Amino acid sequence: MEFKAALTEKARLINQALDRYLPPELAPPGVIHQAMRYSVLSGGKRLRPALVLGAAEAVGAVGEEIITAACGIELIHCYSLVHDDLPAMDNDDLRRGRPTSHKVFGEAIAILVGDALLTFGFELLARAGMGGGVLPEAGLRVVAEVAAAIGTHGMVGGQTLDVTAEGAAVDLKLIEEIHRLKTGALFEASVRAGAILAGATDQQLFQLNRYAREIGLAFQITDDILDVIGETAKTGKSVGGDAHKKKLSYAGVFGVPAALKRAEEAVNSALEAIDDFGENAAFLRQAALFILTREY
Ligand code: IPE
Ligand code: IPE
Ligand code: MG
Ligand code: MG
Ligand code: MG
Repeated sequence: MEFKAALTEKARLINQALDRYLPPELAPPGVIHQAMRYSVLSGGKRLRPALVLGAAEAVGAVGEEIITAACGIELIHCYSLVHDDLPAMDNDDLRRGRPTSHKVFGEAIAILVGDALLTFGFELLARAGMGGGVLPEAGLRVVAEVAAAIGTHGMVGGQTLDVTAEGAAVDLKLIEEIHRLKTGALFEASVRAGAILAGATDQQLFQLNRYAREIGLAFQITDDILDVIGETAKTGKSVGGDAHKKKLSYAGVFGVPAALKRAEEAVNSALEAIDDFGENAAFLRQAALFILTREY
């Protein structure tokens, strides 16, 4: 199956489940549930949850628990976007082609939406681990690993470096560290979650982790490239904000061609890492190539 069709199919499963899991807009206090649904059911690519499913496919089968865990990961990703857009962070007005949460609901509610999505995301991860098709220790391990991946040694650490390094002198090691932490860590956690829940061996997990680490880096590099040469109509985000905020990014510092070359290297390493996986890893391979050529 072509990648876009495969991603659409996975996104359909995830969207259906998210719609089912999220409280209805009218459940009191209505405004927080309305705001949660606004930011989650808003047409993101669903790449991270699709990678949860893709990694599970690569080692075995995709059961109901994997879909629940994938939803948990997407909620955590949505939390990170809502907070990332806040005036105190990137101060962005546009997300997924619509006004950002704080523009619509105000800053206090947007902060609470992030809190709520983070918390609910972990509830779903825990519930996934409690399902009959998953070994209890695998479920617990996923909760612990995702928590570590998005904490101060992962995503939050990366976001901290990202905001404190605005305007800093060019430092290749620091740029790569920011990318790996703020974005790569959740990609790694997504792939690992799917693989662990599906019963991956240590060897499989090691190879899939290498894959995820590389595509996570590539994904942030191409995100930064799209901030320079992308089109708002396709990305659903404003263009040029990184330069304005003097963010440390490959594209901003070394230019688009050099940044693309680095992303290409990372994607090639990612493909190499999963050489041993047969046809079952077709989606993961296509996803890596998509990251390189994406326009959104
Ligand atoms: C945007 O992620 C945030 C980054 C880590 C670069 P995506 O580009 O995956 O955003 P959605 O989920 O498709 O909106
Ligand atoms: C976001 O990086 C990383 C997150 C953890 C959310 P960016 O700040 O570049 O993401 P966009 O461009 O706003 O989506
Ligand atoms: Mg940011
Ligand atoms: Mg941002
Ligand atoms: Mg960006």
